[in-house]
Amino acid sequence: MCGISGIVSSENIAKDLLNSLRCLEYRGYDSCGLAVLKDKKIIVRKNIGTVDEVNAKERLTHLMGNIGIGHTRWATHGGVTKENSHPHLSMNNQFAIVHNGIFSNYQELKEELVDKGVKFLSLTDSEVFAHLIEHAYEVCQDVEKAFIAALQRVEGSYGVAVLSYHEPQYIFCAKKDSPLILGLGEGRNFIASDINGFLEYTNKAITLDDDDYAIVSKDKYWIKNIATGQKVRKKPFTIEWDVETTKKGGYRHYMLKEIFDQPHTAKQALKIERSRIQGLAQMIQQSQNCYLVGVGTTYYVAIVGQYLFAQFLHRHVPVISSDEFHQTAILSENDMLLAISQSGETYDTKMAINYAQSFDAKTAAIVNVMGSSISMMVDQVIMQGSGPEICVVSTKAAFSQMLILLRVVIEVARVQKYITDDEYTVFYENLNDFPTILEATLNEQSGFVRNIAREAIHVHNWLFLGCGVYFPIAMESALKMKEVSYMHAEGMPAGFLKHGTLAMIDDKINTVVFVPPPDQKELYGRTLVAIEEVKARGGTVFGFTFDEDKKSEQLLDRMICLPKVHYLVAPLLEMVMAQLFSYYVALDLGRNIDKPRNLAKSVTVA
Ligand code: AGP
Repeated sequence: MCGISGIVSSENIAKDLLNSLRCLEYRGYDSCGLAVLKDKKIIVRKNIGTVDEVNAKERLTHLMGNIGIGHTRWATHGGVTKENSHPHLSMNNQFAIVHNGIFSNYQELKEELVDKGVKFLSLTDSEVFAHLIEHAYEVCQDVEKAFIAALQRVEGSYGVAVLSYHEPQYIFCAKKDSPLILGLGEGRNFIASDINGFLEYTNKAITLDDDDYAIVSKDKYWIKNIATGQKVRKKPFTIEWDVETTKKGGYRHYMLKEIFDQPHTAKQALKIERSRIQGLAQMIQQSQNCYLVGVGTTYYVAIVGQYLFAQFLHRHVPVISSDEFHQTAILSENDMLLAISQSGETYDTKMAINYAQSFDAKTAAIVNVMGSSISMMVDQVIMQGSGPEICVVSTKAAFSQMLILLRVVIEVARVQKYITDDEYTVFYENLNDFPTILEATLNEQSGFVRNIAREAIHVHNWLFLGCGVYFPIAMESALKMKEVSYMHAEGMPAGFLKHGTLAMIDDKINTVVFVPPPDQKELYGRTLVAIEEVKARGGTVFGFTFDEDKKSEQLLDRMICLPKVHYLVAPLLEMVMAQLFSYYVALDLGRNIDKPRNLAKSVTVA
């Protein structure tokens, strides 16, 4: 769960390499470092802290050289120390390596290398690779051969990149179960864990597949297969994201920017070609069972999907958290799995896809990052087009995934005649109006939400409640509150409350309720019962409500009242405002909002 980067150029690369690491920092951010090669000498500077902190300590931008590799780390094996941060040097300083993933057999390799006299400087699994390659080089005197020999010794997952003073014009890199992408520039080339690492410099990229390795110079690259050594031909693709979307654009945090991006994100989701939506709809129709998976936020997105399938298609779709999928799912070749992932790199979700594929089930995914592993693993993919989501916590990507699921479901509903053509048209009219309403609501209500959040910062315990499709919205909103504010927050179905959790209600816990529009009579009625239950025990209740909801107004201690919208998009509007609420609570608590402690954006490890 780290970021790898590398640049080969005819000019000094330190500043751009550092900038590239900054753009990958969301993947991991407890330490970082650069290795730069000049005059047959590899200089490594690294330390603990954020990219900017390490730059201040180590003056990374002062490094001179036209070729270099960098790494931003999120510790797994070995604590957060300078020694454990990457790059790692081989004992005789001939090679520097950066690694993302886990070498599962590193203990055996380490023992073997120690027996040969190697002195390890770190406690990481990664360092073995630097020594393996140096030892292999001593035998074959050829960097490419030594690189392959080292790759053939390691087990587990890797995105790995190597600098060697024996071949000062090339970066050697390879991948297995961990992403690595080449960026093709003018007179300079890049490698990175994902396209954010070079988006600012080029929009031409090539994805490496598992068991590929690449040799990259400033104006050429070769991709080959590790086992056969055969050249692999690949067509570059063009990245359609606008580089400006990776900037904060005047917002204090990416999270805030990404919340305010959502009207645009909605438009992008609605622009996805209907034929693609229909393609997925058809796959779902033809499947016997359609499993939905995701993890963390995307699990809640999948549950939103479950409610939509039930509501519009009268079809139950099992939803399983990706990490538990293999424990309970029994598939056949007539079944399918629909995976949801912003990054397209989440280990648990990749494993769920592998598991489904082992039954010959069909697979599909909704993914945001182009060229990501999941986008390439599945039979059918819908690219969200939400643009880069930089903040570690997901807002706009999850929002877009929900809209896409909504589109898919109403597409199936039309074909299967659960809705008429006229209803379908009305749904689309409402979806198309939604971005404007959302934008106006964000602008009008932001100040008010901020004030309510400010009053709430002393609250350490939160309950988030919702009925029906508002239940996964409550769960997701509780997760948002936990992630950014570090406060205890629990989400649950409103009707579940009285089965135990009610015992917790006192004046120290605050409850947030997602109230549906009053015309959603059944859901609305049940939600109000839950509010009454909390109020009757002296609890404080905040609510998201819609205009003209007099009953809720009388019951709630605080409410954020939103304009009346169609029931299709009402839960989404409340979710966006809950994102904003959590953001402001975290802001007043002085949290590290874009990079909350202990979290990383892409969780590429088990
Ligand atoms: C979201 O705010 C979280 N940071 C996390 O739960 C995330 O949604 C989860 O790790 C899945 O990531 P993915 O969408 O990239 O697969």
